[in-house]
Amino acid sequence: MKKFTDVHDIGDLRAAVAEAMNIKADRFSFNTLGRNKTLMMIFFNSSLRTRLSTQKAAMNLGMNVIVLDVNQGAWKLETERGVIMDGDKSEHLLEAIPVMGCYCDVIGVRSFAGLKDKAEDYEERIINQFIKYSGRPVFSMEAATRHPLQSFADLITIEEYKKTDRPKVVLSWAPHPKALPQAVPNSFAEWMNATDYDFVITHPHGYELASEFVGNARVEYDQRKAFEGADFIYGKNWSAYADPNYGKVLSTDRNWTINAEKMALTNNAYFMHCLPVRRNMIVTDEVIESPQSIVIPEAANREISATVVLKRILESL
Ligand code: CP
Repeated sequence: MKKFTDVHDIGDLRAAVAEAMNIKADRFSFNTLGRNKTLMMIFFNSSLRTRLSTQKAAMNLGMNVIVLDVNQGAWKLETERGVIMDGDKSEHLLEAIPVMGCYCDVIGVRSFAGLKDKAEDYEERIINQFIKYSGRPVFSMEAATRHPLQSFADLITIEEYKKTDRPKVVLSWAPHPKALPQAVPNSFAEWMNATDYDFVITHPHGYELASEFVGNARVEYDQRKAFEGADFIYGKNWSAYADPNYGKVLSTDRNWTINAEKMALTNNAYFMHCLPVRRNMIVTDEVIESPQSIVIPEAANREISATVVLKRILESL
């Protein structure tokens, strides 16, 4: 695998999940594969789970790891070509990327959507420049429009916990005070649509995701109706995608908060969230602390999804 930015890069999902389960049974079984290979993890944005789980995955495979927080200690980077660099940005990404590529064998990039310019975000300008100019295999640690390491971990978690072959999985918008990218819900929808699950998306009017991500999912504007009979509830906030409101918060209505009364409508569903989560905005304390909450095993599976992806990249070097 030379890049990992979306569901198509992983190929057959059953094979990927089977590989993940094997890795989970013995996560050190390929601990010499990455010997003398270096992973560079480049963060344009904050992280807890992605940083730790991906570094742990690289260590499982015997790799060396360099972590760069671009906004803390590196030169401030210009990302637009053609700009007269007479401001506060000292280095251009077009030099910085190939230089970073000189010091490693594999690159992971986290670069969120700016939520100002939809075209720029959905072109995935930053990670695509890494793919084009680094000379190294590149994988997404959450880019502007997708978070595939998270979605792969979510799929592994659902496969571990599902009680029927074709579970009903509901992606539910929930309120948040700040504008968040659509990357996690886009990506979750993309991966769920690649399965044969019964997949439903529920959100208030105005929060429609891009049609290429909604795919064949059923969209239900009545959250309670969507929850009926669900086996998994995946809570997440996102900002508006549709014009003219791209990147805006249209509602912070806590009637959409996921609570015990709504979970009672489900088929004793498991609650999932990628984390970090704002309690009593997205989900009540009662639900996230309940036995049906699987947010911690879900986060633990980030190590497994990252190990599979790095393993496949190392095998292609
Ligand atoms: N879920 C996730 O990607 O968490 P971090 O933002 O902490 O990495």
